[in-house]
Amino acid sequence: QAFFKPIQNTASPSSTKRHTKVSVIGVGNVGMAIAQTILTQDLADELALIDAKADKLRGEMLDLQHAAAFLPRTKIVASVDYAVTVGSDLCIVTAGARQNPGESRLNLLQRNVALFSHIIPPLAKYSPDSILLIVSNPVDVLTYVSWKMSGFPSNRVIGSGTNLDSSRFRFLIADHLDVNAQDVQAYIVGEHGDSSVALWSTISIGGVPVLSFLEKQQIAYEKETLENIHKAVVESAYEVISLKGYTSWAIGYSVANLARSLLRDQRKIHPVSVLAKGFYGIDGDVFLSLPTQLGRGGVLGVTNIHLTDEEMERLRESAKTILEVQSQLGM
Ligand code: NAI
Ligand code: LAC
Repeated sequence: QAFFKPIQNTASPSSTKRHTKVSVIGVGNVGMAIAQTILTQDLADELALIDAKADKLRGEMLDLQHAAAFLPRTKIVASVDYAVTVGSDLCIVTAGARQNPGESRLNLLQRNVALFSHIIPPLAKYSPDSILLIVSNPVDVLTYVSWKMSGFPSNRVIGSGTNLDSSRFRFLIADHLDVNAQDVQAYIVGEHGDSSVALWSTISIGGVPVLSFLEKQQIAYEKETLENIHKAVVESAYEVISLKGYTSWAIGYSVANLARSLLRDQRKIHPVSVLAKGFYGIDGDVFLSLPTQLGRGGVLGVTNIHLTDEEMERLRESAKTILEVQSQLGM
């Protein structure tokens, strides 16, 4: 006996709404922060979790399922078998080793590249039309590795990149000027790491360029203060890792922010890691963060913003740093 008796024999309209499926690979600190933001922000109809640790995986799946009464209805599945990811629209990869206190992201390369050779090919096999969103570090090089291993066109292989750094940058500027971070437009580009580049010339608050904002508010424009804010961004992860052992909440919200733009075709501009070859005089197959328009097709375009000579030089330096590390791979 059906639980509900139809009020009249109306056939339910065939659901033409697209079924959105997101897979998260790696259910550690970062993967679970991302999973729960995707659930609370109602970004998917189905969430698939993958990890190498079967018990942890099942435990995380059950723990999320038990919140169903408080969340938008989302089918949550989990398995160590990548078949569970079949037909994903978006695959978010967070699996891998994380930095020990004081360790650089680039230092994780060899450990995580080895893992990716077991992760990326099955993802590509089961979801050949998906977008790959890489989070594991060193994220820029691992995004290049994912592009190579998946065989996907570069517009569907994206690294979370400096979307997180730019969020930290916006927070620190907003805090310094006592304004809302959502009213601060600011981009950090280049490597998600020690050689990132602050684009001072792009910063605006409520549409007012920051340098003229500081002048109007009679806030002394000290180049040193602005440089110190960028230094604090670069130090952020090291500080949080030394205090709590890892970072998770900010990256969780940052990746959900990207997932929304991709899955809901928002055509928003984000600083994310993309194939930068040919932009700003960058040569070589290098992925690094540039202001990029994101939508359902992945990368829709890279903005052609004006950079100062100093910013251009720093960006090329960042590209060189990544390429030097990448050359060790022989890929
Ligand atoms: P974690 O150690 O908590 O989680 C890593 C997970 O990956 C574990 O559950 C582990 O079982 C799983 N794993 C390992 N090998 C696997 C495989 N072959 N297949 C599937 N799963 C596998 O680490 P956490 O804190 O979640 O960090 C994960 C990665 O994310 C690290 O590389 C970290 O550096 C990176 N990260 C990147 C950020 C960014 O802004 N791009 C920000 C924060 C972290
Ligand atoms: C961060 C490191 C872990 O920026 O990539 O949080």
